[in-house]
Amino acid sequence: MCGIMGVVGAKDAVSILVEGLQHLSYRGYDAAGVAVLTDKGQIEIRKSAGSLDKLKSLLVGEPVNGRTGVGHTRWATHGAPTDCNAHPHTDASGKLAVIHNGIIENERALRQKLAGEGYVFRSQTDTEVVAHLIAKYLGETCDLHCALQKTLQIISGAYALVVMYADEPDRIYAARKDSPLVIGIGKDAGYVASDIPALLPYTREMLLLEDGDVARVTKDAVIVWDRDDVITERLPKTITWDQEAADKGEHMTFMDKEIDEQPDAAERLLASPLMRHAVPERVSFVACGSAYHASIIGRELLGRLAQIPADVKIASEMRYEPELPLDDTLCLAVSQSGETADTLAALRQSKRRGAKAAAIVNVQDSSIAREAESVQWMHAGPEIAVATTKGYTTQILSLLRLALEWGKTREVLSARDAREWEEQLNRIPGLMRETLADRDRVDQFATAHIAPRLVFFIGRGLDYATALEGALKLKEISYLNAEAYAAGELKHGPIALIENDALVVAVCTQSELTSKTISNIREVKARGASVLALCRKSDEARLKAEADEVWTLPDAPDAVMPLLAILPLQRLAYETALLRGCSVDKPRNLAKSVTVE
Ligand code: F6R
Repeated sequence: MCGIMGVVGAKDAVSILVEGLQHLSYRGYDAAGVAVLTDKGQIEIRKSAGSLDKLKSLLVGEPVNGRTGVGHTRWATHGAPTDCNAHPHTDASGKLAVIHNGIIENERALRQKLAGEGYVFRSQTDTEVVAHLIAKYLGETCDLHCALQKTLQIISGAYALVVMYADEPDRIYAARKDSPLVIGIGKDAGYVASDIPALLPYTREMLLLEDGDVARVTKDAVIVWDRDDVITERLPKTITWDQEAADKGEHMTFMDKEIDEQPDAAERLLASPLMRHAVPERVSFVACGSAYHASIIGRELLGRLAQIPADVKIASEMRYEPELPLDDTLCLAVSQSGETADTLAALRQSKRRGAKAAAIVNVQDSSIAREAESVQWMHAGPEIAVATTKGYTTQILSLLRLALEWGKTREVLSARDAREWEEQLNRIPGLMRETLADRDRVDQFATAHIAPRLVFFIGRGLDYATALEGALKLKEISYLNAEAYAAGELKHGPIALIENDALVVAVCTQSELTSKTISNIREVKARGASVLALCRKSDEARLKAEADEVWTLPDAPDAVMPLLAILPLQRLAYETALLRGCSVDKPRNLAKSVTVE
């Protein structure tokens, strides 16, 4: 969601800004722009709605050169995705340029006040308010540092802001609150970006800003002030990922690569240490989207393997619930990015209500990881495609490991069970490889079902969570009308939608529940639906007698099946999206990291 790139002191700022934005484009955007300080000391802006290619053409037609600049990919929140709402935004003099991720919540009141004072707005964005405010304080004999600090005291909401000013040409300023910003320390230049991959081609020495920080970046130094405007030391970190991990390599898309990487990610996770945390009395999961589906599985696993009661909350809904005490509860936030605004807010609310806080997170130094007392790292490596795949399975595997560990500590699992589980865990990467190898059946099925009017995913127990995730994958990248239902709920309403042209994907991997789901398969078949069933190899014959098509999965304990069953469904969504000509890695209207409420 929105991308920020800035550079000071480079030979060719424009090419660095454009390349950086390219690396950030996976986050989702609908407009892009750059501001460059020319050798004549003027700020020149090029920006447009649409893709980065449009911006590049604009830069070919109207080139601009300079050593310092800022660039942005915008995902529209305040105002439509138009040229004029694209960032950077300037003040009236054009000497100041601002880019911004996040939302300024008191924008309307500030806009009215500034308009009353004679400031003229050219866009509908909240960011332009920031540009005028800084300009106003610059006019009151402030320097840029002081004008920015005064502005930050007035605005509320979430922001990562980067500002450049023609009268202070050797520097850019960066400020963060609830939205990530990374400073890159290069040999001959300073950099700032909203995410690490944008900076990897230039430097591995990075400094991760904390909430409330303001940084001044020049070509050879960085100074950071904390939330009290006191100079503070933030130690740089050396980023060890290789660029390849953030590149597509041989694959056509990031999603294809990330689907294939899942067995390796599982192996890495299994070889890594487990989070240390006292066994909780009860757990309350907070998460969004796929992480919410992984949490539903987590709730079931904690109950079965550790007898720990748990509930799962959609993070965006939590803020509306009564603020009852959560003293004996561990709030477990599950988030690939570690930056999802609703999950972060739910974690904070739980802490205020007395809960302990832990998190399952992929991205190091992300906001959720910093605010949790304990973190279980997912070890998925960078996930670039908007639709999560390896993020989802590493979340489930993390939860399975935690449930087993706590089950052992609470003596719900015997020493023998625990040893057997060790073996089962070690088999998982191999089982995932075996499941992924069977690609042809998925391709053929996707070709035959390119445009069903309606797709229902059904399942019971852990299979219901897989159905939810399978439907989400299909709808978000192929734009098909896909919904998931607990199989037993069909007859309470949704079955009214079943006609001859409906496709039903029945997930039947749970040993005790397969017979029950088979009766639901019969119900939908009787009403004309075609049925694709997913089951274990050992259930193949039973399901072949019921469904139009059967995909089998290796046999494994029930608790492991969600890690396998989702793989062909990810692939089905992927192939269907490709065949339908959809933008697989960057589906419409979606962003990778949802940093707004
Ligand atoms: C779906 C998807 C989203 C995310 C959700 C939470 O494929 O990727 O539903 O799962 O936005 O994101 P994180 O895990 O980063 O908090």
